[in-house]
Amino acid sequence: MCGIVGYVGDQPAEGVIIEGLRRMDYRGYDSAGIAVLVPGESSLELRKKAGKLANLDKILAEEPLPAATTGIGHTRWATHGGPTDANAHPHLGEERRVAVVHNGIIENFAELRAELESAGHHLHSETDTEIAAHLLELEVAGGVDLTAAMERVCSRLEGAFTFVAVDAADPERIVGARRNSPLVVGLGEGENFLGSDVAAFIEHTREALEIDQDKVVTITRSGVSVTNFDGTPSEGRRYHVDWDLSAAQKDGFDWFMRKEIFEQPRAVADALLGRRGLDGKLALDEMRLSDDELREIDKIIIIAAGTSFYAGMVAKYAIEHWCRIPVEVELSSEFRYRDPIVDNGTLVVAISQSGETADTLQAIRHARIQRSKVLAICNTNGSTIPRESDAVIYTHAGPEIGVASTKGYVTQLVACYLLALYLAQVKGTRFGDEITQVVAQLEGMPAAIEQVLGQADDIYALAREYTEAPTFLFLGRHAGYPVALEGALKLKELAYRHAEGFAAGELKHGPIALVEDGLPVLCIVPPQGRDQLHDKMLSGIQEVRARGARTIVLAEAGDERVTPFADVLFRLPKVPVLLQPLVAVVPLQLFACELATAMGHDVDQPRNLAKSVTVE
Ligand code: G6P
Repeated sequence: MCGIVGYVGDQPAEGVIIEGLRRMDYRGYDSAGIAVLVPGESSLELRKKAGKLANLDKILAEEPLPAATTGIGHTRWATHGGPTDANAHPHLGEERRVAVVHNGIIENFAELRAELESAGHHLHSETDTEIAAHLLELEVAGGVDLTAAMERVCSRLEGAFTFVAVDAADPERIVGARRNSPLVVGLGEGENFLGSDVAAFIEHTREALEIDQDKVVTITRSGVSVTNFDGTPSEGRRYHVDWDLSAAQKDGFDWFMRKEIFEQPRAVADALLGRRGLDGKLALDEMRLSDDELREIDKIIIIAAGTSFYAGMVAKYAIEHWCRIPVEVELSSEFRYRDPIVDNGTLVVAISQSGETADTLQAIRHARIQRSKVLAICNTNGSTIPRESDAVIYTHAGPEIGVASTKGYVTQLVACYLLALYLAQVKGTRFGDEITQVVAQLEGMPAAIEQVLGQADDIYALAREYTEAPTFLFLGRHAGYPVALEGALKLKELAYRHAEGFAAGELKHGPIALVEDGLPVLCIVPPQGRDQLHDKMLSGIQEVRARGARTIVLAEAGDERVTPFADVLFRLPKVPVLLQPLVAVVPLQLFACELATAMGHDVDQPRNLAKSVTVE
């Protein structure tokens, strides 16, 4: 949450920064702002405005900024202080010499604020950030450069932060710092960039530098240097970004989310690429845990938040079935606060699209202190969670811009299946030919998802009928249960309607009391091969229908037994039960996307949400 950009080079800074913010505004859209250094004047100019970036665009058109080649920008997801103009970043020091943008929360800000106010400083916002601008300015006014000032100020702060700051008296330098919040450097020719993620500068360079925790980074047009908070030299890790600008554009779709839903066949195919060794065995080259270490694992705990948590629930079914290892799935925000039992026989699997979710990050740190191994399933190269894990499986979905996760989720599922099969291979709980068969089934999934996408128009037409419906229920069993939860989450996130997912068997224990005439109930029917599961699901559908619900049923092709109980029937391709989430989630994503569109909502930037939540 919060997007940060810094630029120093030869190009007009305003254009570079605003475009960077535009590509990152999924990280927060409560306000946006920019500060540039006026060449030859030792002064800075600032524009900022509450609301989406379009509001800042308007201000910039009314009051243009002077030409400048150094500047910083910010798009905000509010934590301390409401989404007002005064609380928008950048924030300035007392003398308007230093400007700073921030992502995170400074936990000891109240005492620092009191200290500044008693020394006569005037603070104009309710944010924790503003104190950093004042503290930095005090340091540079005392004679040190902005890099040293940043080191000193960061040493005094508690909490999570990324800062990017400029000093009007030193117009060729931008200084960033990070603790527990993301920051990457974009390396250009005669220009350099700072960003919360590579989307900030992908148009200009695909060479990036990853920065560790508790580092200060200084960029000028010709160089980059990294230091620790105590001023000693350090360095980052250089890497090449393997996607380009086209992946971050809408390509004719109305929403990034819709584009990302339609990218899922390709994303799943990419997630599967290169996973087989020459001998036909699974080879996860980023695994970094030896076979012996994996054989010693006697318990797995999956931790994740939001949509990633629902991918974790599917993973539990797959890992327990294929590997016979007990698996717990836990919300990362709950994990470390309940004194979990983890030790060096426990593998903690952290699932995170962004790799920056603070709850998940803190949970893996807790797990590592308890000596358990941590494996990350992540989409974002260079992000913090994989960097702090013992092993990582990248999901290779490409950049996901829509706040509600879609291709991020299906590729997480693929990574979870691969992990389960890999563990089965190492532990010998499945024969090689069984594993090869499942991998082949996975390789058929892009075509299966494509088939579901072919029915998009029917799903859209159905969704448009429900703009007035106040409540939706989603039912599933077995691997369909987490899909029901994910379908309901998508609807909440996008349509702001009450939607709940239930395990179909649990219905009779309470939720059935919610059913009344005309209530839309979306039902995910397991494949027919698992007879008991299938039959029990049909009973659940009959139970709600008998009480007046309108049943919208997703069932595999050829399942005729379900037909009499479905008011609306969508066909899913025939796939094994454990892989069914990959196809069953797609109509639910399309449904939520279209319903929200018909309701006039901003699908890519739903209210109150942020894509990457970097505060606990
Ligand atoms: C936020 C997003 C959700 C996402 C969750 C976990 O709440 O709005 O879409 O599922 O974070 O994010 P992660 O990046 O850790 O998967």
